[in-house]
Amino acid sequence: MKKLIPQLVLGIESSCDETGIALYHQQDGLLAHALYTQAAMHSEYGGVVPELASRDHVRRALPLIRQTLDQADRQLADLDAIAYTRGPGLAGALLVGTSVACALGYALDIPVLGIHHLEGHLLSPLLADPAPALPFVALLVSGGHTQLMRVDGVGQYTLLGETLDDAAGEAFDKSAKLLGLGYPGGPELAKLAEHGDAARFKLPRPMLHSGDLDFSFSGLKTAVLTLTKQHEMTDSTRADIAAAAQAAIVDVLVGKAQAALKQTGLKQLVIAGGVGANRLLRSQLDAAAVRKGVRVFYPALEFCTDNGAMIAFAGAMRLRQQAPQDGYAFAIKPRWDLQQIG
Ligand code: KG4
Ligand code: ZN
Repeated sequence: MKKLIPQLVLGIESSCDETGIALYHQQDGLLAHALYTQAAMHSEYGGVVPELASRDHVRRALPLIRQTLDQADRQLADLDAIAYTRGPGLAGALLVGTSVACALGYALDIPVLGIHHLEGHLLSPLLADPAPALPFVALLVSGGHTQLMRVDGVGQYTLLGETLDDAAGEAFDKSAKLLGLGYPGGPELAKLAEHGDAARFKLPRPMLHSGDLDFSFSGLKTAVLTLTKQHEMTDSTRADIAAAAQAAIVDVLVGKAQAALKQTGLKQLVIAGGVGANRLLRSQLDAAAVRKGVRVFYPALEFCTDNGAMIAFAGAMRLRQQAPQDGYAFAIKPRWDLQQIG
């Protein structure tokens, strides 16, 4: 094994439908990153097809690693460690990134480190300049997760609240599907909503005043379904429903995020996960932040959705604290609670 604290870390993300590769250097920061998204391939099926996702990761991983190394003008032999997404995610997709990481690590005789995908999202705001200081509240809003976490340091995450059923991204995606939009539905629904009147239909704001920091979005999908059945689906009605659905999801996210800040007494809010790309969410969070005297941090758009940079970075942060002890076993964790990592 090489030096004590590995300096140059290769990151590999393959938990779902994006192959993300990045190189992070402990001193010089993010050197290069590359992403291939399979969205177009899955859109034909209206959602991610796990087997196709795995096969595509197989096709993309090595060329993207080559491309990333070339961009940074580095060689495989320069790598000091490899961080890969161990979970949660699709088992077959995770296995591709894990096997590439373990095989390369074994061949190069360098450590490999399995990273929790959500830890990647949680720490990705620290890649930005300016970065938030610890501790902060993180609102994690992705296709599979909706959680409010208190982040005190690397590996120090306290769950404040989470969704009891659908994730916010799922609520976007399912509403989009009901409106006949493509996959992934979130950005498509947001685009359609720009032409809509959010005031025409009033959708429920589930659990907004529940007094805790949990969420529930499954009822929203049913409410959207009811609207699509009650009305003739003209272009303008579709846009109005999209705007109403977006407004409802965003209102709940903003309300709960503010409540989390109040409960913890913290003044910094970090948004992570794909839904963090939503413009309405951003503008409403910013407006609320000005009113309440708090600061909101967003990772760059490219780091909001799945990417390799967050995995390389989380790996680099962990390697500063601990030597990896995983060996080269393909130990994926398709289901993995963030609370279980230390
Ligand atoms: O974090 P992410 O890339 O993948 C994981 O789920 O881990 O998040 C993807 C989710 C999808 O549900 C997608 O529809 C949603 O983020 N999303 C958006 C927007 N961009 C991506 N939702 C609303 N508005 C957007 N602009
Ligand atoms: Zn993600």
